Amino acid sequence: MKVLIIGANGKVARYFADFIKDDSSIEEVAMIRKSEQASYFEERGIKTVLLDLVKDPIEKLAAAMKEVDTVIFSAGAGGSGLDKTILVDLDGAIKAMTAAEQAGIKRFIMVSTFRTGREAMAMENDLQIYTIAKNYADEWLKNRTQLDWTIVHPGILVDTPGTGQIKVGMGNDVNEVPRQDVAQTLVSVLHHDNTIKKEFEILSGEIAVEEAVRSV
Ligand SMILES: NC(=O)c1ccc[n+]([C@@H]2O[C@H](COP(=O)([O-])OP(=O)(O)OC[C@H]3O[C@@H](n4cnc5c(N)ncnc54)[C@H](OP(=O)(O)O)[C@@H]3O)[C@@H](O)[C@H]2O)c1
Repeated sequence: MKVLIIGANGKVARYFADFIKDDSSIEEVAMIRKSEQASYFEERGIKTVLLDLVKDPIEKLAAAMKEVDTVIFSAGAGGSGLDKTILVDLDGAIKAMTAAEQAGIKRFIMVSTFRTGREAMAMENDLQIYTIAKNYADEWLKNRTQLDWTIVHPGILVDTPGTGQIKVGMGNDVNEVPRQDVAQTLVSVLHHDNTIKKEFEILSGEIAVEEAVRSV
């Protein structure tokens, strides 16, 4: 299957690129923003497409999705400003979903935040606007598209090596999860259609990724 990764140069997505090196059933197309980012992917035999969620129109995103089977959205504005949070994490996500539907794609996997919903959105902290943006991107995906979605809600992302073991479900207390384990979970989601129209949290845990994903 051909998979377009939006936010391919991000930390989670770079781990994803390493996992699929050994998986001949997945062909990645890496959506990046700068030409100097391409070598990382070219070294791994991965094609790249230069696009920006904010600057480029939906039609260009849709053109890059031609012959793609699945879109994974792992982009995020990070700490680059609240305007960017709205433009990337909310509107960029909606543009990606609209483009996917224009391109006739069904499958869309969203890397969301850990906690969404009204209670989380009302919490006054540094992540409040980000939480609101992610909440409504998820709502759009679930309620305003016909896509076969899966939404993963990772805990606090850390760069310690993955263990290949996670905890899934909803309503867990927040905890850490290695980015590498999130990437492995995304690979597994691609192989397990039981995850369609499901959302689940990912935390460090004691269940092998494959088994955990099968259980959702
Ligand atoms: N941090 C946490 O604890 C946490 C917890 C739960 C979920 N998340 C979510 O998990 C996702 C993946 O995490 P991560 O650590 O891999 O994030 P990351 O390293 O910050 O990667 C985000 C990617 O988004 C790309 N991006 C930013 N603006 C863009 C635009 N306008 N158009 C296209 N791409 C754009 C960036 O491109 P450049 O490389 O060119 O800058 C970067 O590659 C995040 O986006 C976040 O929403 C984070």
